[in-house]
Amino acid sequence: MCGIVGYIGREQAAPVLLEGLSRLEYRGYDSAGVAVFDAEAGTLAVHKAKGRLQVLSEQLHGGADLNSTMGVGHTRWATHGAPSDINSHPQVSHSGRIAVVHNGIIENYAELKAFLMAQGVPFTSETDTEVVAQLIEYFYEGDLLAAVGRVLRRIQGAYALGILCADCPDRIVAVRKDSPLILGYGEGCSLIASDVTAILGHTRRVGYMEDGELAVLTRESIQCYNHLMQPIEKKIVTVDWELDAAEKGGYEHFMFKEIMEQPDALRRCLSPRIREGDIMFEDLSLSQEFLQNMRRIYIVACGSSCHVGMVGKYHLERLTRIPVEVALGSEFRYMDPIVDRHTLVIVISQSGETLDTMAALREARRLGGRILSIVNVVGSSIARESNQVLYTWAGPEIAVATTKAYTTQLALLSLLALWMARRLGAVSGEEFQAALAAFQELPGKMEEVLSRRDSIQYLASRYFNHDSIFFIGRNLDYALGLEGSLKLKEISYIHSEAYAAGELKHGTISLIEDGTLVVALSTYGKLFSKAMSNVIEVKARGADVLSLTVESRGEEMRHTADGVMSIPDIHELLLPCLGVVPLQLFAYYVALMRGCDIDKPRNLAKSVTVE
Ligand code: AGP
Repeated sequence: MCGIVGYIGREQAAPVLLEGLSRLEYRGYDSAGVAVFDAEAGTLAVHKAKGRLQVLSEQLHGGADLNSTMGVGHTRWATHGAPSDINSHPQVSHSGRIAVVHNGIIENYAELKAFLMAQGVPFTSETDTEVVAQLIEYFYEGDLLAAVGRVLRRIQGAYALGILCADCPDRIVAVRKDSPLILGYGEGCSLIASDVTAILGHTRRVGYMEDGELAVLTRESIQCYNHLMQPIEKKIVTVDWELDAAEKGGYEHFMFKEIMEQPDALRRCLSPRIREGDIMFEDLSLSQEFLQNMRRIYIVACGSSCHVGMVGKYHLERLTRIPVEVALGSEFRYMDPIVDRHTLVIVISQSGETLDTMAALREARRLGGRILSIVNVVGSSIARESNQVLYTWAGPEIAVATTKAYTTQLALLSLLALWMARRLGAVSGEEFQAALAAFQELPGKMEEVLSRRDSIQYLASRYFNHDSIFFIGRNLDYALGLEGSLKLKEISYIHSEAYAAGELKHGTISLIEDGTLVVALSTYGKLFSKAMSNVIEVKARGADVLSLTVESRGEEMRHTADGVMSIPDIHELLLPCLGVVPLQLFAYYVALMRGCDIDKPRNLAKSVTVE
């Protein structure tokens, strides 16, 4: 959601900014803009356009038209004010001296705007961000950093800011509070960005800004300051993501590439952690004493990450007999959660920047809970604010619809459940070894499923015209259905709902009529016969049933369902992890056949950094 890039160096800045913004497109946006310092004129040149970045890029001939070696760029996901050229960022002060790009929301902007207007300051946009630009100008008396400092004492909310001043051709000022911003330390250049993929082409040496910090970027160095404006040293880390991992590499869509990458992502995630017949969580230090006294587990996340939590609840409760509650990040703070020092709070997030999840984490920490996060993006806010982090090591995920991050989160949480059960003496050595062997087989079995993708493509061609689809399943299959349904609706725009199969007849079955498509999930062997009864129930009302089951049950299901997708039999701990792959492929092919914008579905953002 919103992307920021800033560059100061010796190269032409605009092409660097446009290329960086193109790598942030996946975050979701509806307009784009850049501001550069025009050395000849001694002013800031600002260019903005509603719509795709391509529109701006064409207007600027790829940036070649702008002769400048410093600037900031932005992709905007509209909050305050509709998507339009005027509301796009950078937002500029009335004299044109200050330009600001912003990710986040200034909560008290209305009051500040009223104050400035009373002083005669003219406004042109509807954005909260313009208030920041105007306020900096209002306080500016020749010292940009001092003016920014005064503004920070007055604004409330979440923000990552990149600031240019026409009087300061040798610096960019950056600020961060509750919205991500990283610093890039290049050779003869310095950069800022919302995430690392935007600057990988220029440097791998990055610094993560903490809340309340400011940075002054020059061509030679970056000086950071804490919220008291005292200079601080920033730790520089070297990122090991390859640039081509964030590129399509011959695939038509990132989503498809990421689906296909899952076996390797799982190997990266699991292999280092399963060694010598045991689970090695070297990155984890939950003492035996804490585990034995643990009274409750909360799993907190949003969207697909929360669906991972639903599966995790079943596994954790079954294996450890400790009560587990799954909470949406957006609800957790308002439910008066029962958290104390004997509570483990597992926070799950691909991006590590989801604002609702982050706020839940902070609330859980305030209440005394022990925070263990499962995160993909190294150094992200959620990772840094947790007591413990397990990284999924899935590599950059660009498509808005999560796939490889979901399966690695799920595998890791399932492994954690098994590890806890073993530490608590709740599983025998034999059961433990059988489960471990299944984890090792998982990537290979997933490759098998992917190699049979043509059959899923065929099923998609049969059903892509439906305009309402129901997913039903029980227990693990219910949690799996939630994810299958979300995947389908977010990229194909087909109305779809997931139901616990037994709940159907308490209302929803009234919607089943001739030709309604029901995707019936029955991978969980213990409940297969119950699942079969539900299939018969909806068939009797005219539904067209597409089933997902395990190979050993495929034949049986083929007698009843109209179409069958199957996965190799595997230990129940890993059924949803394997079972989601045909559902991802089904959603992908359906969206493809409907001509949807698969990687960037309408209205969605990859990283949801507003409440
Ligand atoms: C799923 O495909 C979505 N993109 C979305 O539900 C996502 O899982 C959710 O926004 C949470 O994101 P996070 O894992 O980065 O916190």
